[in-house]
Amino acid sequence: MSLTHKVSAKHILPLNSRYTLSCLNNLKKSIVTMTNTNVPILQRAIVQHENGILQVTPDLPIQQPSPSQLLVRVLCVALNPCDFKMPLRFPTPGLWDGCDFAGRIVAIGSEAAKEGRFSIGDEVFGAVQGSNQADPTSGAYCEYLIVEQDFVFHIPKNLSFASASGISGTAIATLGIALFWSLRVSGALDAPTSTQEDVLIYGGSSTLGLLAIQMVKLCGHRVITTCSPRNFELVRSYGADLAFDYHSATCAKDIRAATKNALRYVLDPFSDVRSVSICQEAFGRTGGRYCGLEQYQEQLFTRKTVKHELVMGGAISGKGVQLPDPYGVPPNPEIGLWARSWYGVVQRLIDESKIKPTPVETLSGGLDAVIPGLDRLRNGYVSGKKLVVPLSTDDHKSL
Ligand SMILES: NC(=O)c1ccc[n+]([C@@H]2O[C@H](COP(=O)([O-])OP(=O)(O)OC[C@H]3O[C@@H](n4cnc5c(N)ncnc54)[C@H](OP(=O)(O)O)[C@@H]3O)[C@@H](O)[C@H]2O)c1
Repeated sequence: MSLTHKVSAKHILPLNSRYTLSCLNNLKKSIVTMTNTNVPILQRAIVQHENGILQVTPDLPIQQPSPSQLLVRVLCVALNPCDFKMPLRFPTPGLWDGCDFAGRIVAIGSEAAKEGRFSIGDEVFGAVQGSNQADPTSGAYCEYLIVEQDFVFHIPKNLSFASASGISGTAIATLGIALFWSLRVSGALDAPTSTQEDVLIYGGSSTLGLLAIQMVKLCGHRVITTCSPRNFELVRSYGADLAFDYHSATCAKDIRAATKNALRYVLDPFSDVRSVSICQEAFGRTGGRYCGLEQYQEQLFTRKTVKHELVMGGAISGKGVQLPDPYGVPPNPEIGLWARSWYGVVQRLIDESKIKPTPVETLSGGLDAVIPGLDRLRNGYVSGKKLVVPLSTDDHKSL
């Protein structure tokens, strides 16, 4: 794209799109720190069209950050199941798709600039909420995205953009809610508990599972997990103490025996009939807390002592999640406040390599490679790794 201009509050963005009003509102609110980088006026993004069908769409505006936001040139994105699930479940033409990104800051809103946590040129990663009914142009599958500075991490020197996007800001957000607000495991990431418990992370070879294993270990607990046998070594290398094959007919019984009939905490990212049944049976005599990350059939929970809950990572901002039941979450500013300091702890652990990224497979082809990659994910062809897509080859940080 040859059209370029310097980012500045006085630039008027294209008036030919449904996003014009929100762009203008952002312009009015913002006093943007100038960048030395030339930023184009228009960009490509992956957007929902008729029936939620995703398409790479050209000529979309690049927005200006509001005072608390950053404008990031996206250099790599990671693929998440929600990136194909949301458009299928809640098709809404016009919503931008994608959550996990890594890239370089090209403009900073006035308040964020004053705080001084970030500078132009910083390498960062994180997540936005893609296919977001409350904010249609929030999406990571684009060339330049807007993100709240509170939910962005610096990329340490030893991590590539690909690995950083594969840590998955989405997984971090979701585990903040799941482990510390839903399951309420004892201990903290930087202060292990002295009262160790067993915690079952169902599906430990998933991106979410591998990060959950690490976080629960940092909190000082014993991690029991399930995955296919081909991934036993992988989950152990991320800290799992015991791994069981969820395809085995005796999986639940084996976990119950290994945990001496005392398991009280279960995280289940999949929440399908098989996983709910295994998890429920694995709980010990006194039951406990089950946190699901997908909609599940409530009637499957027949044990009254097992308290179950579905949580959404998007709730981490404290602003709630605008989706139909059961995915909708009301605002809770307390969570947003807590998350801001918790993200600081997570940043430190990433810097110290105490949290490591999931293995990644890099797909070439830029934005055009994302939709075929999502098809692979949807068809179950991804195991024990994250698919990531670099969007640019003109950036040389070891992509
Ligand atoms: N609620 C939220 O806000 C939220 C946020 C993020 C993710 N999620 C959900 O969390 C789940 C995991 O996401 P992810 O990105 O971590 O996935 P992922 O990395 O794509 O997961 C792939 C891995 O999951 C395992 N797996 C796939 N289907 C499974 C099933 N039905 N039962 C057990 N294991 C299964 C496979 O293990 P093996 O190859 O070892 O068999 C594979 O290694 C998804 O369902 C996603 O929608 C929810």
